[in-house]
Amino acid sequence: MLQVITRIPAKINLTLSVGPRRSDGFHDLATVFHAVTLYDEVRASAGEGLALTMSGPYGDAVPADDSNLAVRAARALARRARVPANVRLDVRKSIPVAAGLAGGSADAAGTLLVCDQLWGLGLPDAALMSIAASLGSDVPFAMTGGTALGGGRGERLRPLSVDGVLHWVLAVADGELSTPEVYARLDELRADAVVPDPAVDDQVLVALSEGDPVALGRTLHNDMQAAAVALRPSLEQTLAAGRELGSLGGIVCGSGPTCAFLARDAAHAGELADGLSASGTCAAVHPVTGPAPTGD
Ligand code: C5P
Repeated sequence: MLQVITRIPAKINLTLSVGPRRSDGFHDLATVFHAVTLYDEVRASAGEGLALTMSGPYGDAVPADDSNLAVRAARALARRARVPANVRLDVRKSIPVAAGLAGGSADAAGTLLVCDQLWGLGLPDAALMSIAASLGSDVPFAMTGGTALGGGRGERLRPLSVDGVLHWVLAVADGELSTPEVYARLDELRADAVVPDPAVDDQVLVALSEGDPVALGRTLHNDMQAAAVALRPSLEQTLAAGRELGSLGGIVCGSGPTCAFLARDAAHAGELADGLSASGTCAAVHPVTGPAPTGD
């Protein structure tokens, strides 16, 4: 096989409940992952040794060295399958970096999928998913996309069905936020509180299964939002702009700083996107839909 290509969607969290810090430093989560139509593309072709090039709008934002999650994914798969890591990888990055959209996880998941095929491994899903989980908490969800309930530190998944298509606008901020720093700030903000076990509100699941964007808009919630806003106070202005423009709900994506706004339909998403652009409260806007599967 000469070349294998796949594309992997960005994710947002429709609800993100974060439990106390665990002894291993991670936090148990209860979340609804939702993949949207902003994709990184991973391309693998035969080569001697491992080489990675990065291209696309955010291709310069991450080093193409051994720290890159795509490189780590290829090596982890080769180790598990006991094959040499011979591959030329190109990652075309359209998902902003350190933005709360799991772009690095997308590249790791895409690399596992294309290398499994290029090297003719055909590893069982469970084996690929366990390698995915070893690479990062969001990588298992990136392997499938769609919409899923997430537990554990994010790696335990149950697919959810969504009635219809949801229309969103992503408001990308200038600059990045570091996920561990946002978790650390959240721990500080809650230092004196008794933090309950994480849980997903049933109303989110009902709104999704009924395809009711108005109800969903009311239930969007992110425990990490206060910490992201504390680190990046200008996000208040972005969230206020989305509210004033009549979005059905607005939320910081994961650890931020991207914000996602829910629209009634495609036309409303177009209006929201125009309004958010004009508001001057974000660096870029992307109207997207969800759920988006991996690999289409
Ligand atoms: O799993 P991942 O490499 O994406 O996690 C990056 C960092 O985010 C972890 O080192 C940890 O500090 C934090 N994290 C967490 N709880 C999670 C996921 C991530 O504390 N469930």
